Amino acid sequence: MAKMVLNADIKKGKINKNIYGHFSEHLGRCIYEGIWVGEDSEIPNINGFRTDVVEALKNMKIPVLRWPGGCFADEYHWMDGIGPRDKRPYMINTHWGGVVENNHFGTHEFLELCEMIGAEPYICGNVGSGTVREMQQWIEYMTFDGKSPMADLRRENGKEEPWGLKYFGIGNENWGCGGNMRPEYYADLYKRYATYVRNFGKNVVFKIACGPNVSDYGWTEVLMKEAGRFMQGLSLHYYTVPGEFNTVKGSATVFGEEDWFNTLKRTLYMEELVAGHSTIMDKYDPEKKVGLIVDEWGTWYDVEPGTNPGFLYQQNTLRDALVAGINLNVFNNHCDRVQMANIAQTVNVLQAVILTEGDKMLLTPTYHVFDMYKVHQDAQLLAVELENSEYTYNGDKIPQLSVSSSLDREGKIHVSICNLNHREDSEIDIDIRGTAVQSVSGKILTAEEMNSLNTFEDGNQVEIKVFNDAAIESNGVKCRIPPKSVVVLEIV
Ligand code: AHR
Repeated sequence: MAKMVLNADIKKGKINKNIYGHFSEHLGRCIYEGIWVGEDSEIPNINGFRTDVVEALKNMKIPVLRWPGGCFADEYHWMDGIGPRDKRPYMINTHWGGVVENNHFGTHEFLELCEMIGAEPYICGNVGSGTVREMQQWIEYMTFDGKSPMADLRRENGKEEPWGLKYFGIGNENWGCGGNMRPEYYADLYKRYATYVRNFGKNVVFKIACGPNVSDYGWTEVLMKEAGRFMQGLSLHYYTVPGEFNTVKGSATVFGEEDWFNTLKRTLYMEELVAGHSTIMDKYDPEKKVGLIVDEWGTWYDVEPGTNPGFLYQQNTLRDALVAGINLNVFNNHCDRVQMANIAQTVNVLQAVILTEGDKMLLTPTYHVFDMYKVHQDAQLLAVELENSEYTYNGDKIPQLSVSSSLDREGKIHVSICNLNHREDSEIDIDIRGTAVQSVSGKILTAEEMNSLNTFEDGNQVEIKVFNDAAIESNGVKCRIPPKSVVVLEIV
């Protein structure tokens, strides 16, 4: 039995909708096939973008989309991706499978996609192998409204008015694939590149510096000390890997209780990481002006057998739904510092929300979590005190429940609850203070097995259902959360 006190009148800040952001890299079948099929494709499309994927992304209310990488960003030269498509030069995507990149999906295509799905673009610039001038010109090309060489070039390519571009990253993983730099060196480079990322007209760029890998607190310390006042955001990357990253990461679909438990335990580590990096940021930025931008997170398993190891294609089960629910609860609960998060990656790569095969498309369990949790976007985080129960496995223990709660503009309270225990349900008494409760309803995502999934061959085993196990009791709600499930309650 768990107990929760939910204070409907204690608001702890706005949950930035951008916490529900996504990341799409030129990697495997994410952009090509997954999003872009070209105008001549037999797959139904709007101006070359898959109709089914565009509709699914719109429905999920995807607020912000990061592009073009990832590691790809630091070898991407944007000028290769503009102008008539048949004249664009090709390149080799050395990070991801060594395949030919024909540059058919470039700046215009990305920004058109964002307009279609109603997402803010978040572009990551090239520091590793690009020049300051190249970055400066990209910003000018996209956002300059007057007469200038780059704005004129944009007009020649069919776009009269500039785009609005808010979010811009100055490099990606510059401690690794983006140049293997020391934090001191990158901090100086950051300031140099960022200086030339200009604000033209009314466009004001929110500059995001490359932040730490996992628990590299030293990186955060140096960046905040040396460059904190020149940035609006600092990124953090952390992936959930059940096994060992460099040897056997573990299968996405074939796993037992031990892998289930370890995966969720490693996901909960996000709480410690966000808190740890936030503490350092607080030292240099007590007013919390600089956002922690968790722009890569999600599960990373061994690729599906028989697929290109460089394409990072993996299936997605109920376990991934729990991973998504836990991470999103962590970000909600830290919304004073976490201003954006981007799951890796939107389609066909890592913890994808959508998988495609030819003209077929399916929604993964992770998609459904984003769909259920979208009610938290831009809502007010509510104060929750939880007397949690424990989930023990093989002598080890983790909390059984992960929870966050918010109040939306219409006055509805939403509580998202993950039951991590794969065997036992959890009875929860929610004592609601500060408002009179009139009704409760809910949605649930669960399935028969820990590794239940949705496939092209056998259909959907994991889908959102109505949740009927919640009832009003005195001024609160009593509910029973089934094992291995994600529930979102709506309380009015
Ligand atoms: O998301 C896959 C890769 O993971 C990204 O390209 C890189 O930034 C990270 O290491």
